[in-house]
Amino acid sequence: MSPALLLIVLCVLQVAVVDLNEILGEQCKAQLDAEFGEGKSTFIQCDVTHGDALRDAFQRTVDQFGQLDIAINNAGINNEKNWEKTIQVNLTSVIKGTYLALEHMSKEYGKIGGTIINVSSMAAFLHSPHQPVYTATKHGVIGFTRAIADASLQGDYGVRINVLCPAFVDTPLLHTVEDEDNMGKFVKFKDDFKRSMNKFGVLQPSLIAEGMMRLIMDNSLNGAVMKITCSKGIHFHTYEPMSA
Ligand SMILES: NC(=O)c1ccc[n+]([C@@H]2O[C@H](COP(=O)([O-])OP(=O)(O)OC[C@H]3O[C@@H](n4cnc5c(N)ncnc54)[C@H](O)[C@@H]3O)[C@@H](O)[C@H]2O)c1
Repeated sequence: MSPALLLIVLCVLQVAVVDLNEILGEQCKAQLDAEFGEGKSTFIQCDVTHGDALRDAFQRTVDQFGQLDIAINNAGINNEKNWEKTIQVNLTSVIKGTYLALEHMSKEYGKIGGTIINVSSMAAFLHSPHQPVYTATKHGVIGFTRAIADASLQGDYGVRINVLCPAFVDTPLLHTVEDEDNMGKFVKFKDDFKRSMNKFGVLQPSLIAEGMMRLIMDNSLNGAVMKITCSKGIHFHTYEPMSA
């Protein structure tokens, strides 16, 4: 499991773990406590699709830790049956999370700057008949992030905003792909999906953490689209320059 949202205060290395799942959220906090000591992290239970609760999670973090430096919008579900929910979690909440993070970081709001990472997927590049709406949301996250990163640059927000696109990763989400409750009628394409998994391989979450760290640390990156795959590791997507 990787939490839905991470809100990090850099100068004092404090982190708010935000997730719907209380048990997993508390486990994550306990691991952080064990490694970094008590008082460095907090867990906030929150459904990121509930706008007021999400706003409150950001406010509570800033009230507790004093400021916000890094926000990682990571929530994602794989539900083609309830596809409207998939859009709410994977795309709408990423947009809301970005706007809320900007309220707490952007020079536009009198703040001191920061970094936002939005999590997309290689599904945005290698589409599958098994996940049409998931694929659409992950395209949306890339388009939104690139455009808002340009707005940040041109508007002098002082906030770097980048997007991370992992290929298959060994997490609970990957185990939902054979479940009719999640995939609905598209479950019949699961063998096609599993063939892709065998062909492209499955990443370990530690490599995704390494990619995140690069996006956080490299001050030259804004609007970057980082891809992480088994064959090429951490690398960046390049786009053709726009022409008339
Ligand atoms: N696992 C993969 O193969 C893979 C590949 C590419 C991209 N991704 C993306 O990585 C991100 C993390 O996924 P993961 O693989 O760690 O999945 P995961 O299911 O292990 O973790 C997702 C977390 O999001 C939380 N969550 C779901 N809905 C929520 C909501 N409404 N409000 C708050 N929290 C909510 C869940 O409780 C869970 O802790 C997602 O955006 C996913 O689309 C995953």
